[in-house]
Amino acid sequence: MNREELGIKNALEARKMSYAPYSEFHVGAYLETAEGNGYRGCNIENAAYGPSNCAERTAFFKAISEGKKDFSRITIVGGHGEDSLEFCPPCGICLQVMREFCNPKEFEIILARNEKDFRIYTLEDLLPQGFGPENLG
Ligand code: THU
Repeated sequence: MNREELGIKNALEARKMSYAPYSEFHVGAYLETAEGNGYRGCNIENAAYGPSNCAERTAFFKAISEGKKDFSRITIVGGHGEDSLEFCPPCGICLQVMREFCNPKEFEIILARNEKDFRIYTLEDLLPQGFGPENLG
């Protein structure tokens, strides 16, 4: 299994845990550290809507809360149905969380529809000119 397949399989497994009764849009993510650890995340919605959390941030917060800060890539799958998923890019808030911890030129964001159909971006591709820690001087 190559690294894309590994990431996509894990993201699809993560998606099965999605709690999305309001949007019925289920998202799974798999975040990998430079040293080879992986963290799964799913979206978790709330009746009050505002407290809802995206799959990507769930994965990031799991990893960071366990002391990890050196990330290499995240794989994301999302959609309504089971059969034909569409590419699901991270929302602006999730991109900003990534910007806090990841090198924009090196961190990879892999969007997948299935194990064979995926696209690889860098964080800089999806968040050019982003505001990061270094901007605070
Ligand atoms: N969502 C994610 O978890 N990640 C994304 O990349 C886009 C959107 C979630 C938030 C909400 O639970 C549902 O998908 C519909 O927006």
